Amino acid sequence: MKAGVIGIGAALPEEIVTNADLVKHLDTSDEWIVRRTGIRERRLLNGSRTLADLASEACTMALKDAGREAKDIDRVMVCSLTPDRMMPGLAPAVAQQIGCDLAGAVDLNAACAGFLYALDQAAALVESGRANLVVVCGAEALSRITDHSDRGTAILFADGAGAVVVAAADIEHGLSTFELRSDGRHSDLLYAEIDERLLRMEGREVYRHAVARMVEATEAALQRASITTEDVDVFVAHQANARIIEAAARRLGVPEEKVVINVDTVANTSSASIPIALWQAEREGRLKSGHVVAMATFGAGFAWGAGIMSWKEHARVSA
Ligand code: UT7
Repeated sequence: MKAGVIGIGAALPEEIVTNADLVKHLDTSDEWIVRRTGIRERRLLNGSRTLADLASEACTMALKDAGREAKDIDRVMVCSLTPDRMMPGLAPAVAQQIGCDLAGAVDLNAACAGFLYALDQAAALVESGRANLVVVCGAEALSRITDHSDRGTAILFADGAGAVVVAAADIEHGLSTFELRSDGRHSDLLYAEIDERLLRMEGREVYRHAVARMVEATEAALQRASITTEDVDVFVAHQANARIIEAAARRLGVPEEKVVINVDTVANTSSASIPIALWQAEREGRLKSGHVVAMATFGAGFAWGAGIMSWKEHARVSA
């Protein structure tokens, strides 16, 4: 038995903030933001809903997509660096809201790399037989820790949630290989202090590391999976900046048509960005059952990584 993704869902807050809205109070321009980041608009949680609400919506959608029931879930894993409260974490509230309040529920924080770290752990739980059905959700309200007067970061970060359901299946590949890494020497380049609670970033330096580390990790993951870039159908990287994703894809040799970019409409949602991008790619018909997906991420810590998976392979096997 292998562990595979069998369902996906996402949820975005209703409030849309465009670049034109930001220009009203920041020394920036739509032209600069689009040219340097690819971002045109972002969604913000405005207080009418909690982050647990948003995460639960994504998880419920993923469960429905998987055709499974909440009572069968063994574990709920929620990645977030912006939970509703310092404690408890989001996961118990999400478990309760989606209807499996007796399942194990745990938060995981690896900043923007959280989703891939959690997906790797979910796969390990399922492959080892310790769990049959695991929900993995990335949920962020980065607007809570954004310095809205800092043009270097206020244009980038946003809110959203995405979730997948991981299950045991009689498939060939599933969640095949993950390369997860960290380097705490660079923690001062991207952080939020416990007292100030505002995200601070040396953007240019982070950019440089992000491209190099995501490429290295993806190459290592491909090698461990005994495949090459040519075998990859879809490349989904953390949506931090369109230029970062394009540069990484170029260095890896992934052609443009295989690269998923939705940072233009959702901006940087940290650990939620990969599942939201996967969800959107599937809805647009770019991601289909059996596709080989390469994922890469990079963020504060530094913590980063890459993963290779076959998309909803169970559907192809049982078809
Ligand atoms: O999710 C976790 C990982 N995060 C990332 O991967 C983000 C990585 N970094 C980035 O995406 C980019 O570095 C930024 C988008 C943050 C900045 O883009 P950049 O091309 O690296 O710009 P820069 O920081 O080198 O700044 C270039 C110039 C500076 O002016 P001077 O010093 O050359 O006169 C900045 O002050 O652009 C200025 N600038 C802006 N101008 C207009 C910085 N932010 C803005 C802005 N509008 N919003």
